Amino acid sequence: MTSLWLDGRGESSSPATEIPDTRFDVAVIGAGITGLCTALLLARSGKRVIVVEARDIGAGTTGNTTGKLSLLQGTKLSRIRSKHSDRILRAYVAGNTEARDWVIRYCEQHGIDVQREDAYSYAQAAAGIGDARAELAACRAAGLPADWVEDADVPFPYRGGVRLPEQAQIDPLPLLDSFAAELKRHGGTIVRGSRVEKVSLGTPLRLSLERGTGQIAAEHCVLATGVPILDRGGFFAKVSPHRSYCVAFDVPGDITRAMFLSTDSPTRSVRYAPTADGERLIVGGAGHPVGRSSDPADSVQELVRWTTLHFPGAVRTHYWSAQDYSPIAELPYAGPILPGVQHIWVATGFDKWGMTNGVAAALTITAKMLGGHMPWAEAFAAWSPHELSGLSSALQTNLSVGYHMAKGWVAPSVCHEDPVEGQGVVTGPPWHLRADSVVGGVKRTVSPVCPHLGGIVNWNDADLAWECPLHGSRFAPDGAVLEGPATRGLTPSDRTNN
Ligand SMILES: Cc1cc2nc3c(=O)[nH]c(=O)nc-3n(C[C@H](O)[C@H](O)[C@H](O)COP(=O)(O)OP(=O)(O)OC[C@H]3O[C@@H](n4cnc5c(N)ncnc54)[C@H](O)[C@@H]3O)c2cc1C
Ligand code: FES
Repeated sequence: MTSLWLDGRGESSSPATEIPDTRFDVAVIGAGITGLCTALLLARSGKRVIVVEARDIGAGTTGNTTGKLSLLQGTKLSRIRSKHSDRILRAYVAGNTEARDWVIRYCEQHGIDVQREDAYSYAQAAAGIGDARAELAACRAAGLPADWVEDADVPFPYRGGVRLPEQAQIDPLPLLDSFAAELKRHGGTIVRGSRVEKVSLGTPLRLSLERGTGQIAAEHCVLATGVPILDRGGFFAKVSPHRSYCVAFDVPGDITRAMFLSTDSPTRSVRYAPTADGERLIVGGAGHPVGRSSDPADSVQELVRWTTLHFPGAVRTHYWSAQDYSPIAELPYAGPILPGVQHIWVATGFDKWGMTNGVAAALTITAKMLGGHMPWAEAFAAWSPHELSGLSSALQTNLSVGYHMAKGWVAPSVCHEDPVEGQGVVTGPPWHLRADSVVGGVKRTVSPVCPHLGGIVNWNDADLAWECPLHGSRFAPDGAVLEGPATRGLTPSDRTNN
């Protein structure tokens, strides 16, 4: 379960770099593309910056991305256009263009490989053509030089699609490593293996690290944690978490060069990746709302079947998964956690397009903090009247959260199975629920009650992890928190057997 990008790096198990007893100008939480880019921009402008990372650089979604830097983003532009004016659409595209070009320039200046390739949003079947055509119209409304390609000469089903020339793809890890190295050269500090549990208001703000392992004082705090770990602002209810899967293959013969993403289901995302021992084909898809799929492992097998059918002889080398957050009104959030609060900042809602949106968010937040303004910032506002266009999606999202909350507490009471290897089950009456799993021959029992807001976790049999169906927190079999918004783990039970 290690991504092609993270393979061979190992995860730092060391608890924490020592925390300097200094008051920082800015504490950035999270060392993915958003956090490290924000930290670097601020350090370059002379701020004293610390980055606090719960795990390791790139351990979150950035190290498990597909790594496309594209303005053609599946059906994203037509979805924005269905809710907003063409002016907002153009602002979104301008922000992504600036971010894409910033990353490409950075890579060129720092000797980091970038492949310039065309991007396609394509229909696999006749039913997908309408959405692909709508994307072409949205591209044109946004001023992008997209065209329609009837036949793309690829080995998988293709019924026509939009092409946007000269987009880009990268391996995200050299980029993050370079950000981190430059940040340190500018006097920045990176603390790894330390999870922030809470941020207390005051001047300065105080960040408390897990299990009382330390405190950090800073004037500003940027939450670059995927979904914000603080509930203030209610962002956990304004985004919905989606998990998807990627598989890398060794493929005999030529690999498709351009980057493809289907407009119809089941989603297929395709790119190639150069590696030290030859090229790989990456195929992504099989997505589902976090904690709400009954059999993720089967969906992943389906990705493998699809690939071996269309790329005969393909041999799986890597397999991984990650999640990202879809905003209710389609636009990302980058700005203050609450209107008028100018010292806690959030960046979320990238909808699986954070390689550009994360950088655009970094540019937006940095500009605001330094008293400037990005001309396209309107499409990235954390608090804006545009959100009204997402009200019905918000209602739907939160109704389904309520449904899963109730279902989690009641449904397990009828289940009495014992898990076998690779399985996890929640059993018991509502007043005494328990979550049992068996991984690597070790049976563990934890409380299934999510410490965020009390959802009941479900087992993901592809990732071997517990997932909360409410707002997407994830936990290891022993209950340790993997990703938020929860900042604490599931309570372990004293019953752990081999
Ligand atoms: C399968 C998949 C494929 C994707 N492919 C693409 C693509 O091709 N192109 C594209 O543009 N986008 C893509 N995306 C989206 C993109 O990868 C993400 O939007 C982006 O990486 C998010 O970056 P981030 O820095 O905001 O978050 P992350 O990379 O998740 O970083 C957040 C960091 O915060 C840390 N953290 C969390 N909580 C705490 C805490 N309490 N204390 C300390 N640290 C904490 C985490 O450990 C993590 O390292 C994809 C997403 C998925 C899921
Ligand atoms: S993530 Fe919110 S209740 Fe679990």
